Amino acid sequence: MAEQGFNVLKIREDFPIFSQRLSGGKPFFYLDSAASAQKPRCVIEKEIEVYEQYYANAYRGVYEFGARVDEELDGGGDREGVREKVRRLLGASSAEEVIFTSGTTMSINLVANAWGRKFLQPSDEVLITLMEHHANLVPWQRITAERGAKLRYIPLSGDGRLDLAALDELLTSRTRLVAVTRMSNVLGTVNPIDVITKRAKEQGALVLVDGAQSVPHEPTNVLDPPIDFLAFSGHKLFGPSGIGVLWGRRELLEAMDPFLCGGHMISEVYLDHSTWAPLPAKFEAGTIPIAQAIALGAAVDYVDAIGWTAIHEHEQQLLEYAWDRLTEVPGLTVHGPGLEHRGPILSFSIEGAHPEDLAQLLNLKGVFVRHGHHCTMPLHDHLGVPATVRASFALYNTREDVDALVEGLHFARKKLRLA
Ligand code: ALA
Repeated sequence: MAEQGFNVLKIREDFPIFSQRLSGGKPFFYLDSAASAQKPRCVIEKEIEVYEQYYANAYRGVYEFGARVDEELDGGGDREGVREKVRRLLGASSAEEVIFTSGTTMSINLVANAWGRKFLQPSDEVLITLMEHHANLVPWQRITAERGAKLRYIPLSGDGRLDLAALDELLTSRTRLVAVTRMSNVLGTVNPIDVITKRAKEQGALVLVDGAQSVPHEPTNVLDPPIDFLAFSGHKLFGPSGIGVLWGRRELLEAMDPFLCGGHMISEVYLDHSTWAPLPAKFEAGTIPIAQAIALGAAVDYVDAIGWTAIHEHEQQLLEYAWDRLTEVPGLTVHGPGLEHRGPILSFSIEGAHPEDLAQLLNLKGVFVRHGHHCTMPLHDHLGVPATVRASFALYNTREDVDALVEGLHFARKKLRLA
């Protein structure tokens, strides 16, 4: 798969699930990749390979299977390990800064607990935004309350972008950390991490980026702009669920205390104290999701082989097409900014229709979307609606998916007697 040769029908053949039909032979249209992405055959086969050919615990056995697992994860011989693949994906300088977690939520909780508990002081402030997923909000709420620090929010402009004018007022020498999503899981808004990082650094604040929605759609470079932490989930990047990543700058990770304690994260254990293993083991207590971590490497190879330019172009074209076609649906409002400021996520409301009814009626037409508050209650309060319907796209979606969504919405409006 070369960049020039992007062919969405060929891509779909890589995903066994797209050869499925619903009962009665009906087709389905998967528009919920922001919740979780489908898996290409190479990821599924890699996981099977581990279980069938060399499964053993990681970092424990010197016997052949144990050694193979360790090589798959951290490299060895001619083999490039998953940690190195992820390092390259993120443009980081060291694979030891790549910590395996269970996903974005765990990654952010790790920073909130291991960094926040040690370094936040009562007069300090943590700055987040009104569009954050609860995973990048609630951990900060708890740790700032525990430490007597203050949590502040960057407000949004009318079109669902960050109000950067307010940033100057909110970001002060009291700010210790700015935690912000690169791409909103509801509005699709792509936030200017470069501007935020520049201003944060001027005030001596650290920057944590929630990359859950952005990493599957665009190239990531943690050194440019120079952020401090980045979290993402394997399952949204076409990898298995249960595996995710926290990347952190080495000196910060080294200064932090462990979050979870147990096997593998120690150097020496005595009856009255323990010392910690070097990175990354210090933050990987217990058994990591072994086959899932190894298969994440296959997912990284998969997107690498397609290329970000091709992925981005395809998704943006699809987004534009969906944006135009949704205007045909009476009473429909898409929340969030215009096309130039968003990734492939469209959340909307239809006047007079409950989001759950819409999702149920779309399901009757085989159109799979998510509805609800999408783990962003404060954002929905800001939008003035309790819930929305969300259609999200990935590299395997087609215009046919968009057409099915639009036809499904016309059908739903009729059923709800809005048409
Ligand atoms: N965070 C995921 C979503 O937005 C689950 O759907």
